[in-house]
Amino acid sequence: MKKQLIAGNWKMNGSVTANEALVKALVAGSAQAACHVAVCVPAPYLAQVQGLVAGSVIAVGAQDVSQHESGAFTGEVSAGMLKDFGTRYCLVGHSERRQHHGETDAVVAIKAQRALAAGITPVVCVGETLAEREAGRTEEVVKRQLAAVIHTNGHCISEIVLAYEPVWAIGTGKTATPEEAQQVHAVLRAQLRAATDHAERVLIVYGGSMNAANANQLLSQPDIDGGLVGGASLKAADFLSIIAAAH
Ligand code: 13P
Repeated sequence: MKKQLIAGNWKMNGSVTANEALVKALVAGSAQAACHVAVCVPAPYLAQVQGLVAGSVIAVGAQDVSQHESGAFTGEVSAGMLKDFGTRYCLVGHSERRQHHGETDAVVAIKAQRALAAGITPVVCVGETLAEREAGRTEEVVKRQLAAVIHTNGHCISEIVLAYEPVWAIGTGKTATPEEAQQVHAVLRAQLRAATDHAERVLIVYGGSMNAANANQLLSQPDIDGGLVGGASLKAADFLSIIAAAH
């Protein structure tokens, strides 16, 4: 059976001092983890966290990557630069970037391509807003978002990690029920099957108010292959409980 992935998304949180305490506790508590583990940290901390996780099971991820390879793009960070710091994963198309930075499906697809070309696994985020869910448009929205990434990346699509993050469940304490999440994951799996012979090996992780109390049920669903954890990844004990619930 494939190993699940539990990835923390720190978002814009952390400090040199806080990171050290958090990561040391995670390293100490995750040695026996049955799943893959990653922390997606703000870019300035990649080097620090890379040093702290050395020799442990924890991989380091970034939260975004430039759609450009290099050049006059002030403030941007390229896939090559992330790779230079041993970055293993990179979030792409998180709803906060789609919402606050105007990232379109096409831009997200190119970012995934940049990451793959640099040997970084893109964690491509898809998910509907509350208004879209209430209008019965959930499937249409997530399929459109994934279709753009499949279109640009072709058969390399089996190399990505896909994250289903319903926007209404992010940071709200409202989680999709395991059944609701599974239903969308199954739709995404079917879409991947139509694009690649290797759809079964693609990890489709769930994100949106996953915590120590609800992780077990979510992670028991047949098409939920892990979690992308925001708030609860900033507390070592909570994140370690989620890791312990995964296989
Ligand atoms: P929360 O776990 O804080 O809801 O955040 C989820 C998320 O956006 C992870 O990328």
